[in-house]
Amino acid sequence: MKAIAVYPAGRRVELIDHPEPSFESPSEVKLRMLEVGICGTDKEIVAFEYGTPPAGFDYLIIGHESAGEVVEAGPESGLKPGDLVVPSVRRPCSHPECIACPAERQDFCYSGEFTERGIKQHHGYMAEYVVEDARFLNRVAAPLRPYAVLVEPLTIAEKAIEQVWDVQNRLPWKRPQAAAGNLGAGHQAIVLGAGPVGLLGAMALRVAGFDVCVYSRHTEGDGRTEIVRAIGAEFVDAQQVAVEEMVSRFGHTLDLVYEAVGASSLAFEFLKALGPNGVFIFTGVPGRKAPVSVDTDHLMREMVLKNQLVFGTVNAPRSSFEAAIRDIGVFAEKWPEALSRIITNRIPMDRALEPLSGTVHGIKNVVAIA
Ligand code: BGC
Repeated sequence: MKAIAVYPAGRRVELIDHPEPSFESPSEVKLRMLEVGICGTDKEIVAFEYGTPPAGFDYLIIGHESAGEVVEAGPESGLKPGDLVVPSVRRPCSHPECIACPAERQDFCYSGEFTERGIKQHHGYMAEYVVEDARFLNRVAAPLRPYAVLVEPLTIAEKAIEQVWDVQNRLPWKRPQAAAGNLGAGHQAIVLGAGPVGLLGAMALRVAGFDVCVYSRHTEGDGRTEIVRAIGAEFVDAQQVAVEEMVSRFGHTLDLVYEAVGASSLAFEFLKALGPNGVFIFTGVPGRKAPVSVDTDHLMREMVLKNQLVFGTVNAPRSSFEAAIRDIGVFAEKWPEALSRIITNRIPMDRALEPLSGTVHGIKNVVAIA
């Protein structure tokens, strides 16, 4: 079967012929891969900056944002041919002292010995067929097929929001206008970055009731600004409005910052805008650049005197996949056009190297396999 693989030692990325997998355990299923999204992590892997092949291989099949269709189902899988599924990415470690992995919370793995499909020591989904255990698959209703590939990037926001509810449980945070399911009502959130993680995060925050402002560079013609407006959020062009202006504009009213750019200097500037009892969430993974200077006394003083909380978040558990699947359904109903516009291009597998190497631009590029 065809697959896209990176050879880190040979510094090559190629469309390869890889043996078609077959399942071995009754809880496994065979998937025909439908679509695989391309994100910043994939671009780093094909630039040989990240990613590790599985033991015994000199190549790694990439791809971790995906949707597939069950073609053969083991008798104990609980799935059937034709089911649409989205697989998760991370697989548990077997370190005897890790308490997260045995609890199916490998997203919080302590040992760092987890594997990740398409990223770390485990082949990914940019292949015609994949075999996977049903416990790592999440069923999606058939009408959501056009958006199913967006579930994995949305899980980042869902895991973040789940943690916001947990940490803000420390406070009397619920405003009178909040109802079940919109605990964010009456709270102001800002999203840094209008890439797919930022836009999907902004949608999830809107559904959770927040007032949302997206701060990003405006790029002509790719629809980001329109998507933000369509979901009832405000778009602020970073080229027009400086960070300092944003900081003074929000004064003491900013309850949540959702960082989705991976640029630490911008992020730390925005930390100054966070209001009392606010939460700052880092989701970006910055590359190693020259050090930036920050006024640490100021930040520490503010964090203490304002009861602020800063956390980083990576990967996602099953509960976040379930929340993402529910929210994709809500987005599809409320904002079908905005949601569709997040996927800029669908590209066949034999042209996958174009979006991977950055010659095809857009918000989210997706490799259409079947
Ligand atoms: C993926 C995560 C993964 C992380 C680090 C991200 O692109 O969405 O699932 O844990 O990369 O490898």
